[in-house]
Amino acid sequence: MLLHSFFFHVFICLLLSLTFSATYPITKPGCQTQCGDLTIPFPFGIGSNCSMDPSFHIHCNTSTNPPKAYLFNTGFEVTVIYDHNYGSQIRVKYPNLAVSCYDSLGNKTVSSNISIDLSSTQYTVAENNWLIAIGCDDLVTIQGRSDQSSFGGGCLTLCSNSNDSGGYWLCPNNLNGYLPSNGCCRTTIPKGTMILQAYLSDLHGKWRMGKLFPCSYAFIGDMYAFGGDEVYHRGSYPIHDLHNPTAFLSDNPLITSPTLVLDWRIQTENCSQVERNLTAYACQENSECFDFDGGVGGYICRCSTGYRGNPYLTLGCQDIDECVENHPCDWICINYPGAFRCSCPDGYYGDGRHSGSGCSPSARTSTLINISIGVSSGVMLLVSVAICFRLQKVYQKRKMKKCKDKFFKRNGGLLLQQQTNEGTLGKTKLLPARELEKATDNFSESRILGQGGQGTVYKGMLSDGIIVAIKKSKLVDENQLEQFINEVVILSQINHRNVVKLLGCCLETEVPLLVYEFLPNGTLFDLIHNGDSEFLLSWNMKLKIAADIAGALAYLHSATSLPIYHRDIKSTNILLDEKYVVKVSDFGTSRSIALDQTHLTTLVKGTFGYLDPEYLQSSQFTEKSDVYSFGVVLVELLTGQKPISRTEEEKSLVARFLLSMETNRIETILDGRVSEEGRKEEVFNVARLAQGCLNLKGKYRPTMKDVSTELESIRRTTMPSTVEAESQEAKSLMLSDFECTWTTSSSTFNSDVDPLMFETV
Ligand SMILES: *[C@@H]1O[C@H](CO)[C@@H](O)[C@H](O)[C@H]1NC(C)=O
Ligand SMILES: *[C@@H]1O[C@H](CO)[C@@H](O)[C@H](O)[C@H]1NC(C)=O
Ligand SMILES: *[C@@H]1O[C@H](CO)[C@@H](O)[C@H](O)[C@H]1NC(C)=O
Ligand SMILES: *[C@@H]1O[C@H](CO)[C@@H](O)[C@H](O)[C@H]1NC(C)=O
Ligand SMILES: *[C@@H]1O[C@H](CO)[C@@H](O)[C@H](O)[C@H]1NC(C)=O
Ligand SMILES: *[C@@H]1O[C@H](CO)[C@@H](O)[C@H](O)[C@H]1NC(C)=O
Ligand SMILES: *[C@@H]1O[C@H](CO)[C@@H](O)[C@H](O)[C@H]1NC(C)=O
Ligand SMILES: *[C@@H]1O[C@H](CO)[C@@H](O)[C@H](O)[C@H]1NC(C)=O
Ligand SMILES: *[C@@H]1O[C@H](CO)[C@@H](O)[C@H](O)[C@H]1NC(C)=O
Ligand SMILES: *[C@@H]1O[C@H](CO)[C@@H](O)[C@H](O)[C@H]1NC(C)=O
Repeated sequence: MLLHSFFFHVFICLLLSLTFSATYPITKPGCQTQCGDLTIPFPFGIGSNCSMDPSFHIHCNTSTNPPKAYLFNTGFEVTVIYDHNYGSQIRVKYPNLAVSCYDSLGNKTVSSNISIDLSSTQYTVAENNWLIAIGCDDLVTIQGRSDQSSFGGGCLTLCSNSNDSGGYWLCPNNLNGYLPSNGCCRTTIPKGTMILQAYLSDLHGKWRMGKLFPCSYAFIGDMYAFGGDEVYHRGSYPIHDLHNPTAFLSDNPLITSPTLVLDWRIQTENCSQVERNLTAYACQENSECFDFDGGVGGYICRCSTGYRGNPYLTLGCQDIDECVENHPCDWICINYPGAFRCSCPDGYYGDGRHSGSGCSPSARTSTLINISIGVSSGVMLLVSVAICFRLQKVYQKRKMKKCKDKFFKRNGGLLLQQQTNEGTLGKTKLLPARELEKATDNFSESRILGQGGQGTVYKGMLSDGIIVAIKKSKLVDENQLEQFINEVVILSQINHRNVVKLLGCCLETEVPLLVYEFLPNGTLFDLIHNGDSEFLLSWNMKLKIAADIAGALAYLHSATSLPIYHRDIKSTNILLDEKYVVKVSDFGTSRSIALDQTHLTTLVKGTFGYLDPEYLQSSQFTEKSDVYSFGVVLVELLTGQKPISRTEEEKSLVARFLLSMETNRIETILDGRVSEEGRKEEVFNVARLAQGCLNLKGKYRPTMKDVSTELESIRRTTMPSTVEAESQEAKSLMLSDFECTWTTSSSTFNSDVDPLMFETV
């Protein structure tokens, strides 16, 4: 078995070295792919011969630094063109701000309206945008039109007090739940909007002496422009802005050039129409046509399942090699265009998939079949043996049930057995309380490694010499019990090199005890923020750490039989072993977490920096919520800064990072070593990936699998040049880790040796 898996890994190695150069085309042959930092994928193109039609013609003005891209026929500056694999949207700078001010006599002194007209283009205003109004006792009215239908709407700003003592008012991100007294409101814009006008008017029809402030404002922008996830920082404005027509602009520079998200589509006919006359059909081989659902006709193309790339180019959609990217099979994986197949070697049966039945030796089954087909007395024997076995099992179960003491019951032992089919816990052992007492010197204070929200963690040595970390839960109440059982069940199913291993648990004590592998080198948080080990946090190491975490999460999300969402990704939950290989864990051991908590008033705020804003709003946790949290960790790695700022005034790290991305000033926020060592394009790709992960809308975030793939490919392209640059010591570290990837990424093969895999120090 071990020999087999060795050859298997060598095989994977060979495959990898052959395939990672495969990249898909971005533009038509001979066309420029970049305008400054912006990648221009077809149907967009620089020059009329490079774009599909005039709507997608980009003018790249290179006389500015960095160069800027403009839509040729509208003159809007394009700041982002989203990857076709994630959605057909672009982001443009579109100056739009409505202002209305009155003088003390009640005459309107300043008045401007918002007016957007995209009717002669292939673009429409995307749903990601909001109309936001700020002021007191004002009505903002919006009128718009798509192809056939028109709509109208608006919202009211109300204020309850005029106490302007240099304070701020907040615009919360909850669309329906804005605080009426806080002088702001917002409303949505339907998908497919082509023409749009918005203007401000006083609620009472005219100015009156009682009006609290003379000015009000309205603008349209994507949700990040104002408010969005960063309620406490970017979604606030100084009250005194409402006193003069220009103050708001100077205090909120983002608003002066808000970025608008636009949907784009091909032509004005839908898929069924265009498929009748294929002369103008834009979707190339291995792609599919989707109607644009904005009610204005048109369609978009997407690569078919199992393919990735640019669906608008010949050979643009290329096969995803699932075998190399996801390791979906137990033994033999064969990649086909658009699909893959698992199979088992001779003598084994099953579907061969990690997520399916895998490969099992067939000898036993074939013996059983032979016996049952054979002599009838054999059948009788078999049946009676089976009955005996079953009776014995039932008897044992009954006996065991009787024996369970009250602690076992109270600690969720029964629940645990329910959850794990027939009590199978994989390699997780039920350990006697005596052994753990001995291992930790009766839970001596000198053995405490850390204290987290869930319990205390002790260092201990089991009787067989293995060093372990033992988590002693706080007193168990009903809610915590479920969480606890959950952790045991989930961890005992997982076997991944970047996920902390659960070795056993003990339910006989007053509070449950969990036994983990011991990871000596602290948390990622320590390494980033308190680390003094200079060479370890090189750019390459960071890239490897990010790729490892992403790989582990992608595995949790997709490679296991049931998707597992971590729900609390943060740098303090990522531990490091003695080789500085990261392990995702679920228990806060580090002392610094406790220190940080004292700076923050509530626990909710303590993890706020990592929480998916969409989850906060909808309370629905999705796989994309983990992606968001991972994005925050990625930003932490890029910037070396903590996600939660210490002072209320300072913007949070995510906000500052996104701002720096939007304004193309990413260098200003990067960690010194990152900008020194990483190639600019490579760092930017990682930053853009982080930006994608932090998208306010979960559906536009990449999946963990995409993220992992992307990071691995960035990492692979950097390996050769960077290994040389590292010190000799670092070199061997990197190389050995690189090799390790193969031996443990599919460690289900040698699960028989797993208990020996951690060091005994
Ligand atoms: C576009 O292509 C046509 C023919 O292929 C050529 O005559 C023309 O000069 C090209 N235009 C530009 C701007 O390159
Ligand atoms: C390019 O940008 C510069 C500076 O903003 C401007 O002066 C120039 O007219 C632009 N060129 C074109 C061709 O738009
Ligand atoms: C506007 O101001 C003028 C004087 O400048 C005044 O005559 C007029 O009545 C004012 N209008 C209103 C509606 O107060
Ligand atoms: C703004 O729109 C309103 C309503 O259509 C109109 O009365 C007003 O004159 C417009 N103001 C400007 C400056 O265009
Ligand atoms: C205005 O607010 C400040 C601080 O919030 C407070 O000290 C002051 O008393 C308030 N003034 C009025 C008139 O409410
Ligand atoms: C496509 O457009 C035609 C004509 O407008 C319409 O009859 C048909 O229902 C549309 N098909 C879909 C799938 O929307
Ligand atoms: C198919 O579409 C092309 C270009 O849009 C047009 O020139 C041609 O006449 C169409 N053919 C038919 C049969 O409608
Ligand atoms: C089962 O029987 C078949 C022939 O019926 C034979 O080829 C095979 O070797 C037998 N398997 C075992 C495990 O005895
Ligand atoms: C731990 O403490 C208990 C009493 O508190 C004692 O009975 C037991 O012997 C101690 N075990 C060890 C290993 O010190
Ligand atoms: C990490 O582990 C090494 C040995 O495995 C040790 O020398 C080093 O001090 C550890 N660093 C931290 C921060 O714990």
